[in-house]
Amino acid sequence: MSLIDRCKEVQSEKDFYGKADEYWKSIPADVNGMLGGYGHISTVDIRTSKSFLKPFIQGASAKTKTGRALDCGAGIGRVTKHLLLPLFDIVDLVELNKAFLDEAKTYIGQNASRVGNYFCCGLQSLELPKEFYDVIWIQWVTGHLTDAHLIKFLQRCKEALRSGGIVVIKDNVAILDVEHDPQDSSVTRNSEDLQTIYKESGLRILKEEKVTRFPTELYNVIMTALAP
Ligand SMILES: C[S@@+](CC[C@H](N)C(=O)[O-])C[C@H]1O[C@@H](n2cnc3c(N)ncnc32)[C@H](O)[C@@H]1O
Repeated sequence: MSLIDRCKEVQSEKDFYGKADEYWKSIPADVNGMLGGYGHISTVDIRTSKSFLKPFIQGASAKTKTGRALDCGAGIGRVTKHLLLPLFDIVDLVELNKAFLDEAKTYIGQNASRVGNYFCCGLQSLELPKEFYDVIWIQWVTGHLTDAHLIKFLQRCKEALRSGGIVVIKDNVAILDVEHDPQDSSVTRNSEDLQTIYKESGLRILKEEKVTRFPTELYNVIMTALAP
């Protein structure tokens, strides 16, 4: 059954994407806006991402290079500024909301000179060059894509990875069935749904880790590293 059919309040794909677009246009372009009022968890979030990513790019068994990364659903560039630019030579951002990308140019600060591209579009319509990225980072945005679009996007990500490259997904995970949030028009999938999607995209899980240091009232947040 498609995601739209499983979420009874979602009338159509157009409605699902249209409402998300409207929602994000109403949100302030700041860290608190990016994190749904939980701006104070940003430091812990970045720290946990760094320790998850580092073994792939540093040390004796590292296979992933640090030339170019892509930040997906980048918002104002919080992940780009604090995680990706300190580790990668060049970072591209892709984000639906133009106002966030405009703010990113200021928010990122002096390292913005190492941003390659600011792509303003939905992940569902983003075309990617082949063998171009070492890391594709997808944080807190997969729930804005339908299953079919997420699978196709991940398939394009797979083709866009250089040798040794990885896709990292960091997102909320539901314990039971898929949950729909009518406010921002997103879904939270469970682990089983996500495993099926990864399998259908042709990606395999290299490493998976739950973030244990977020406030307990939040969803479980899982970091998953995927490779072809
Ligand atoms: C919860 S915020 C997370 C922002 C950023 N990843 C972070 O962790 O700071 C979700 C972001 O995804 C963007 N977004 C929503 N739907 C999208 C889509 N279909 N394609 C690309 N970006 C989208 C929103 O505009 C917003 O900036």
